[in-house]
Order: sequence, then C-alpha cells, then structure tokens
Amino acid sequence: MTGYRFNTAPELRVGLGTALEVGAYCAQLGIKRPLLVTDPGLLAVGLVTPVQEAMAATCEHVALFSEVTADPAESVVLDALAVLQAGEADGVVGLGGGSSMDVAKAIAVLAAGSQTLAEAYGVDKVVGGRLPLILIPTTAGTGSEVTPVAVITTGETTKAGISSPVLLPDIAVLDAELTLGLPAHVTAMTGIDAMVHAIEAYTSKIKKNPVSDMLARQALTLLSANQRRVLSHPDDVAAREAMLLGATLAGQAFANAPVAAVHALAYPLGGHYHMPHGLSNALMLPAVLRFNAPCRRGALSGAGEAATRASCARRRGFRELV
Ligand SMILES: NC(=O)c1ccc[n+]([C@@H]2O[C@H](COP(=O)([O-])OP(=O)(O)OC[C@H]3O[C@@H](n4cnc5c(N)ncnc54)[C@H](O)[C@@H]3O)[C@@H](O)[C@H]2O)c1
Ligand SMILES: [Fe+2]
Repeated sequence: MTGYRFNTAPELRVGLGTALEVGAYCAQLGIKRPLLVTDPGLLAVGLVTPVQEAMAATCEHVALFSEVTADPAESVVLDALAVLQAGEADGVVGLGGGSSMDVAKAIAVLAAGSQTLAEAYGVDKVVGGRLPLILIPTTAGTGSEVTPVAVITTGETTKAGISSPVLLPDIAVLDAELTLGLPAHVTAMTGIDAMVHAIEAYTSKIKKNPVSDMLARQALTLLSANQRRVLSHPDDVAAREAMLLGATLAGQAFANAPVAAVHALAYPLGGHYHMPHGLSNALMLPAVLRFNAPCRRGALSGAGEAATRASCARRRGFRELV
C-alpha cells in the first residue's frame, strides 16, 4: 500500500446539550474575549442567545457577529474581521451551517496573521497560525467543522477556497439538539450534500485511503438510514444525531480524500443560479455516477453496500448496526 496522510480536528465534543458547555471549552482554550459568528436566521429562531449566554458565563466579554449570509461573500468576511478587531477578540466560535463556520475559520486565520484574504486563497497558502477556534454546526451537511477548507464567494458567480490544515478547529461540538428545528428543505439538501461528500471521497481515484474509506462507509450507512426519517419525523433526536455524526464523518473523509466531479460541476450551477449547495449536488450526482460507473464499478458497489447496510441489517433484525 502507498503511504497517505490523514488530518482531522483534534477534539470532538459529541452529545445533546454540549453546545451549552461552550463556556467551558472557551476556558479550556484560554479564550477570554470570543467573537461568536452566526447568521440572522439562527438568531431569529433563538439558537444563538443560549450559546452566547453560556460563553458569557466564563468569558470577560462576548462579541457577536450575526450578519453571515448564505454562500458568504468576501465583504461578509471583512465585516466580521472588523468586528473581531474592534472587540479585540482572542478566539472565534462559529455557530451555524457551513456559511457561518467558514466565515469563522477565515477570520480566525486573517486575525492572527498579516495576510489579506486574496493571499490566503488556494491550497496551503496560509502563513502562520490562527486564533483559537471552536465550531458548532447547526446543519448536518457540509462537515465544515472538520474540514481544512473555507469557501468564500468572490464574485457574482465565482467561489474560492482557503485550504490549509490551519483551518481545522481546536474543538468541534456536535449537539444534535441544535438541528431539531432545521426546516425540511434545508434538512433534505444538507443531508444530500453530506451523502455526496461520502460518495465522492469513497469513489475518488486519488488520496483515498483506509481511514477515509472507513469514515465514508460509516457516514453513508448513517445518512442513508436516517435521511428519510428526519424528514418524516423532524423531532426524532436519535435520527438527528445519526445525521449530524454522519455529516461529520463524511467531512473527515472528504477532507482527506477529495470531492470530485459532482462538486466541480455543482459549484458553477450554484454560482450562476444561486441554488443551495445540496440541491446543485443532487442535480449533478446521477450523471456523474453514470459517467464514472464503467471505471469505478468496485468503489461504487462498495458505496452502495454501505448505503444499504442499515436497511439490510434492519431486515435481519440487527438493530445495533443502525
Ligand atoms: N468548508 C467546507 O468544507 C464546506 C463544505 C461544503 C460546503 N461549504 C459551504 O457551506 C455553505 C453552505 O452551508 P449550509 O448548507 O450548512 O447552509 P448555510 O450555513 O448557508 O445555512 C442555510 C440556512 O439554514 C439556516 N439554518 C441553519 N441551521 C439551522 C437550524 N438548526 N435551524 C433553523 N435554521 C437553520 C440558516 O439560518 C440559513 O438561512 C456554502 O457556502 C458552501 O460553499 C463548505
Ligand atoms: Fe459539499
């Protein structure tokens, strides 16, 4: 076997209510003046205030930036950076979907160094370190909480990524309670995004390795067993937990064995038509799978087995596998 490298976030905190322990995680990282980065939708549904209060319990001062927009533009990153600098923040907490977490990652890097945003775009272009960083996903989709990537919209129809292991957070917090109120259309699209991450990581021709394969397979098992359930029973907390873990495992997989043609074709679709990332992936997936099938038959059948593993196990009565 050829050698490979596997990177991921050093610490996951998983469990119901863990988001409300964020004050303790700030203390663990020595953060006294955090900036909480989130979006107005989350503020409106009441998910932000309890987290902000939990941070205030251990921190001297908590600043809030709640202006993140979907597919965040460079101007959003720069606005968030200005709030961070004005509040002399010494750490960043990203709360939300991929959009909020990506802004949190980008400003944690920009605040610690002297690079401009444009200089940080690309692979391994980040010079220096970052501020302490905690990421708390509220969607079960992007896996951004464990990927070394921040995706920023650079123009009307273009996106660019900062890709560096420096962007991996110190702590990723998986609290499925935060995802209980996720609207059905966001649940569906973010869940498909996570599945595509696992499928592309598992069927990738490059960088695929035994660790990413194991994570992608388990992600597919969890996601395919629970995607319909969270749509028909949005309050099923066990199903929400399985989706959140599945999305994170898929994120760990594709952070090391990359996504491929589905994402490459989905990005311009999203850019031109401003459609959600999961939807553009869903539209591209069947065509790419058909195109790849002749030369990736083995990997595709392995992904298919992982995706149907839960339903097979259920039929045989092995509930613990699901
Ligand atoms: N960094 C990475 O590795 C990575 C990977 C894939 C995609 N992305 C990026 O992530 C972004 C998409 O992220 P996303 O799909 O998570 O969506 P998002 O962060 O844009 O959020 C979508 C909407 O869902 C709402 N929402 C989120 N959680 C909610 C909750 N629990 N309850 C109610 N409403 C909630 C938000 O308010 C927002 O309006 C894109 O910019 C994409 O390019 C990043
Ligand atoms: Fe994606």
